[in-house]
Amino acid sequence: MLRPLEAPLRHLFGPGPSNVTPRILAAGSRPIIGHMHPEMYEIMNDIKKGIQYAFQTENNMTIAMSGSGHAAMECAVFNTVEPGESVLVAINGIWGERVAEIAERSGANVHRMVKAPGGYFSIKEIEQAIEKHKPVLFFLTHGESSAGLCHPVDGIGDICRKHNCLFLVDTVASLGAAPIFMDKQMKGTRCNQST
Ligand SMILES: Cc1ncc(COP(=O)(O)O)c(C=O)c1O
Repeated sequence: MLRPLEAPLRHLFGPGPSNVTPRILAAGSRPIIGHMHPEMYEIMNDIKKGIQYAFQTENNMTIAMSGSGHAAMECAVFNTVEPGESVLVAINGIWGERVAEIAERSGANVHRMVKAPGGYFSIKEIEQAIEKHKPVLFFLTHGESSAGLCHPVDGIGDICRKHNCLFLVDTVASLGAAPIFMDKQMKGTRCNQST
């Protein structure tokens, strides 16, 4: 621990971790400021606007998580589900199973919809499972990095709204690569994902 930290330059081509631009590396080396300093509020507001753009949303409750994808997954589940409540999880790779485990640890009553890795869930299958299990939360992975699938989300928000169920989408590996139109898609508007 007394030696300076050495991290060699590597080209990273997997789903993660990934190389970051010099601009981001430089930002990480700026002096530390307090979380209550006015400059910090400005930085957080700017980041919020950036995230709203990336997700195509105007939702004021757009929050930056200073943590890993796992931290955000755990935060999302633990802040929306009470012990004993029903949660429906679509599993077609490792990330759905990971969320199912997190939800189980939170004390939720977890129902798994399982497909082979990379499998596709039809709107009809999802609606039938929601009608059967009456979940407070339905989870789907947008970019299932363990299987190489980008799952369409069009129309699912509409079904969740109809059944008074929250729709939690993992875009850790897809955001910025495959378009996501959060406000329109969650309101049930069809968006051509190739545009
Ligand atoms: C789809 C997906 N969700 C969640 C995660 C977890 O992110 P993290 O490794 O930052 O905890 C990953 C990481 O590869 C991922 O690909």
